[in-house]
Amino acid sequence: MKLFVPKEKSPETRVALSPDTVKRLSGLGFDVTFEKGAGELSRITDEALTAAGAKVATAKDAGTADVVLKVNRPTAAEAKGYRKGALVLAAMDPHGHESDIKALAAAGISAFAMEFMPRITRAQSMDILSSQANLAGYQAVIEGAAVFDRALPMMMTAAGTVPAARVFVMGAGVAGLQAIATARRLGAVVTATDVRAAAGEQVESLGAKFIMTDALKDASGEGGYARELTADEQKAQAELVASHIAKQDIVITTALIPGRPAPKLVTKAMLANMAPGSVVVDLAVERGGNVEGSKPGEIARVGHVSVVGYENMAGRLAATASQLYAKNLVAFLETMVDGESKKLNVNPEDELVAATLLTHGGKVVHPLFAKEPAAKPAAKAPAKPAAKAPARKKPAATASKGAKS
Ligand SMILES: NC(=O)c1ccc[n+]([C@@H]2O[C@H](COP(=O)([O-])OP(=O)(O)OC[C@H]3O[C@@H](n4cnc5c(N)ncnc54)[C@H](O)[C@@H]3O)[C@@H](O)[C@H]2O)c1
Repeated sequence: MKLFVPKEKSPETRVALSPDTVKRLSGLGFDVTFEKGAGELSRITDEALTAAGAKVATAKDAGTADVVLKVNRPTAAEAKGYRKGALVLAAMDPHGHESDIKALAAAGISAFAMEFMPRITRAQSMDILSSQANLAGYQAVIEGAAVFDRALPMMMTAAGTVPAARVFVMGAGVAGLQAIATARRLGAVVTATDVRAAAGEQVESLGAKFIMTDALKDASGEGGYARELTADEQKAQAELVASHIAKQDIVITTALIPGRPAPKLVTKAMLANMAPGSVVVDLAVERGGNVEGSKPGEIARVGHVSVVGYENMAGRLAATASQLYAKNLVAFLETMVDGESKKLNVNPEDELVAATLLTHGGKVVHPLFAKEPAAKPAAKAPAKPAAKAPARKKPAATASKGAKS
């Protein structure tokens, strides 16, 4: 079995391979190759990968690989260069990119959308949304603190006392909880909000105060995700946020709703009530943003507040993000390799395969995107992923575009 890992297109900084995973892949029976310089921006040198057992190759070598591991969805041109029938694992980001997904189908590859991995115990080690959102939450605090022109912890010095900064985290999912923990470690006074009542206990277990309006009891939706708020609920939440935000130094927003644009939580009027020099970090910027006036890839000045809109936040910690991402991919690939024969064996009945497989046999097969059902595999054909996968919840987009993490 031949496996190839390309260098990602700029501005992606991460890579889908690490020396650790080269060893694991070789143990599974893969002949691992990678494009020269693939790990450069993640501080993974060609030498480190070759020392672990991989071989340097060129982009053209993708054409002979049985498996291609990527961070981002391949372009149509890249996919055309892959071998028909090759398995390609990446964050495919298919919502709103249906024509790109059709191009993957036309190229004849079996594309797996890693962000569709079910959030079940068995698949925890394969969950790219969690591994990357966790890092994004951490990095959001670091970036916010870097822009903030004061210290975060309380400092009692001979020259006087510096009060602790107040940090408010909106959305207490994977990224938000890590942002809370990080801000607490830096000594800030942290409050947080979410529309899921269950998040309250988690917030408090991290030592932060949970803020929620009485008008909003619980907006938990399917699968542990949030549902969209009604107009009345939105109004009640906006009133709560407006009064609370005016007293904050740093606000970190992470709120997402599966399959919907990010909810607008912070208006320009709210920003105008914050103290000069306050900082807002909008982690939802790639999904339309939680903050009015945030600009993808920039630090926008809205009145006297800096709004940080960096995309691909996990990619700003590429060395760590790549290590975890590469492990997520290998953990999934491992389930599709027969341990004895050391051959690929994709089981269409497996719920992980059914949930993540986007294209196969020249067709878009995922139930969320397939317009027409694909033909049934021939009776004697080797085990192939099924055209029909069980309906599942829509996935949340990643907090960072690159893992589009
Ligand atoms: N393996 C597992 O079982 C597993 C793994 C990871 C996450 N999870 C769970 O999945 C759920 C979703 O986590 P996620 O980080 O992917 O979520 P997400 O990225 O979809 O959303 C981030 C957070 O924003 C919140 N939110 C949405 N609208 C909001 C609004 N208007 N105001 C404030 N907050 C709002 C959501 O409730 C969520 O907590 C959580 O319950 C998490 O614990 C389970």
